[in-house]
Amino acid sequence: MTMEHQTPDVLVVGSGIAGCAAALAAAHEGADVLVVGSGIAGCAAALAAAHEGADVLVATKAERPEHASSDWAQGGIATTRGGPDQLKQDILDASAGEADPEAVDVLVNDAAEAIEDVLVDTLDVPFDEDGDGFDYAQEAAHSEDRILHVDASTGQHILRPFLAHLDDHDQVEILEDTAALDLITDEGLVAGALLDRDPETGEESTTGTPVFAGTTVLATGGVGSLFRRSTNPAGSTGDGIAMAALAGADVTDMEYVQFHPTAYDDEDPFLVSEAVRGEGAVLRNADGERFMPDYHEDAELAPRDVVARAVEAEREETDEVVLDVSPLDFASEFPDLATTCEERSVDWEAGIPVAPCEHFLCGGVTVDTEGRASLDRLFAVGECAHTGVHGANRLASTSLLEGLVWGRRAGEAAVGMDPVEIEPPELLDRDPDLPAGFADDKFRRLRRVMDEYVGLRRTHNDLERAQGVLRRLKGEVDAYVRTRTARDLYELRNAAVVGLLIVRQAREHTESVGCHHLTETPDAGH
Ligand code: SIN
Repeated sequence: MTMEHQTPDVLVVGSGIAGCAAALAAAHEGADVLVVGSGIAGCAAALAAAHEGADVLVATKAERPEHASSDWAQGGIATTRGGPDQLKQDILDASAGEADPEAVDVLVNDAAEAIEDVLVDTLDVPFDEDGDGFDYAQEAAHSEDRILHVDASTGQHILRPFLAHLDDHDQVEILEDTAALDLITDEGLVAGALLDRDPETGEESTTGTPVFAGTTVLATGGVGSLFRRSTNPAGSTGDGIAMAALAGADVTDMEYVQFHPTAYDDEDPFLVSEAVRGEGAVLRNADGERFMPDYHEDAELAPRDVVARAVEAEREETDEVVLDVSPLDFASEFPDLATTCEERSVDWEAGIPVAPCEHFLCGGVTVDTEGRASLDRLFAVGECAHTGVHGANRLASTSLLEGLVWGRRAGEAAVGMDPVEIEPPELLDRDPDLPAGFADDKFRRLRRVMDEYVGLRRTHNDLERAQGVLRRLKGEVDAYVRTRTARDLYELRNAAVVGLLIVRQAREHTESVGCHHLTETPDAGH
């Protein structure tokens, strides 16, 4: 077997696992559909495929629900309360004009049914209500109150019942604490993935176990672990994007890394939901001045990229920015966040110190309206996918919705293919361990480069510098990937691949648009 990678030079490395002329391994029990990842998008894909009669295997690195970003989602899920066209317009406006209108049509037209069927009827999510029905919240860049939420911890109230529902489903098997190391591919066809746990025995597999599937759905989430401060859980290393790119799949819009404007200003940040600004909280600099009206007519409710850059500029100028929550009854409207503040000894009455923080990748594996990637039998959904919905800047509370809508679509489209057993990767005699400190040191270096050169504001020179460092780092990591199977080594390789994709696409894009902001061309975009 040979693997011709279509990716650019920096990525054409093979994975070390994709070998040639390997003997056909003993057949491993596969699945009709293999889903990699267990956030809302992976769960929605698994449920939809099972509903169509497929046997589904979900392989997830998570050991607990809170290891998935979806579980951390605070604000909620956008609805088409005032009509699909109104939500569509808000998404297009927030996206800096870069969202794909056809993809947005899919999102807004499927939204009501997906929410009703899955979240309300199947999972019975206890969305907050007021006397007249749902208590719709407001968030930045939304033209109406339309966000369904459960307090400010909506994600966990969706994901936990979702996983419990799938756990009870006869046609779905969830394999926890299991990473996909690489896709098994041959000539543009994806036949499954190499997992670091054997689904038949449940044992860890130090050489990697090939699992064949009719189709493979990537739902591996975001890339927060490439940055020092992120609102994502640990392990957000862009695995699906890296594996797909290494296999030759198209990847789009990687330069659009979204930074949330209001994360607690600390090495260990926590998100302060945009819904708090939706309820009236204002941003003040260290001089006590409310500055957002000087930056945008919508002030604190301007698109996220605009607010994030304004917060960063004011922090640089006056040292500190706080979110002043005195205009609202914070403790009763956001009890979860008030509790988090208290647990972290943050005196919210004095204003919550905030700073921008990596939050969401708008780009990813290029997919069509059913989640199909450019390789045969490969799908991608959720944050690791690029559907075109977010353009250059995602509108708040559309990520759970996108995961739900595309998860269902992909799950339905992914059924009906028998697993093909092609020659699996050559399984070398591998060492599961790494030299002590290797991954930690390299991750530190990678994050330093991403923070310093590939953050909220970029320059051409910085991006070039970052590319050089990341190429060297990836070379050092690849040398180990040929002989070792440690999960953190693969995460490091994936992070380096994704970092290079971000930098390469950022270098190719010489204008500032939305989340991609070059200080040399600051006026383009919003
Ligand atoms: C938030 O609650 O501010 C985050 C919502 C989102 O990222 O969509």
